[in-house]
Amino acid sequence: MLITTCGNSELLAKKLAKQLRARYVPVTIAAFPDGDLYLRYPVASLKGQTLVIVESFQPNPNETLLHILFAAETAKDLGAKKVILVAPYLAFLRQDARFKPGEAVSSQVMAKLLSNAVDKIITIDPHLHRYASLNELFTIPGKRLTADPLLAEYIKRHYPDAVLVGPDWESSQWAAAIARSLGMASTTLQKKRLSPTKVQVRFVDHLAVKGKTVVLVDDILSTGKTIAAAAREARKRGARRVVAIAVHGVFVPGAFGTVKKAGVSHIITANTIVHPTNKIDITPLLAAALRGER
Ligand code: R5P
Repeated sequence: MLITTCGNSELLAKKLAKQLRARYVPVTIAAFPDGDLYLRYPVASLKGQTLVIVESFQPNPNETLLHILFAAETAKDLGAKKVILVAPYLAFLRQDARFKPGEAVSSQVMAKLLSNAVDKIITIDPHLHRYASLNELFTIPGKRLTADPLLAEYIKRHYPDAVLVGPDWESSQWAAAIARSLGMASTTLQKKRLSPTKVQVRFVDHLAVKGKTVVLVDDILSTGKTIAAAAREARKRGARRVVAIAVHGVFVPGAFGTVKKAGVSHIITANTIVHPTNKIDITPLLAAALRGER
């Protein structure tokens, strides 16, 4: 098995190669003077090999998709027998419907392109809401991993007396599952998204947060507006401190400040996307998923 990356997940790809005793092959991705994409493997042939491309879709999701397509197509062209995409964070999934007439259903476009280029996709906590599984999107085998046990372990170690809060119904699958596994109290807030950058949330049940540590759990922290709105609500209800834990820390510019300003004392993410808040390592999860692959 050979392991590579298109650049967003270099450390992860190298760690995985080490844990799996596989060879890490760095691929060169650059641009011709006119801007056209240039890609080169450091080997003349990949005949009969299984190539694993480890690549998170952040930063630069659009460019990343193109990089992966070029890397996969070229690997096949060089004789690879199988190309597996490990996308710790898979983008485009939030546009899972045509919300306004004429819009692209980006998740379907992305899935179609990848299904034609790679043989299998492995991802962590994909944002699946209108789809029940990856199989509804991709025509290739898909493996959906969850970082839930790792998040739970972190919460248990650092915030054993917390109450867990999912800021919207979509996040409840993470918050509720983790709370159940830890025997902690949890609730899901009701969110109204007014625009991509404006949200309102409110408590709909009477979970007592007064004087407690509230851990907000979400799959994605992007603009930070959801977490910030939830943090403000928790503080209004007397929470002693508010902590935020997300699987995927997208952090668009300004997001970190938005969350801090809302009174969140600690922001923690998994390393599906490289960010200074990475405290939860998903390498063992990916290594276990790849162990049986040939
Ligand atoms: C939404 O359905 C997700 O679970 C997250 O709550 C959302 O993607 C967070 O986005 P933002 O940080 O931009 O509010």
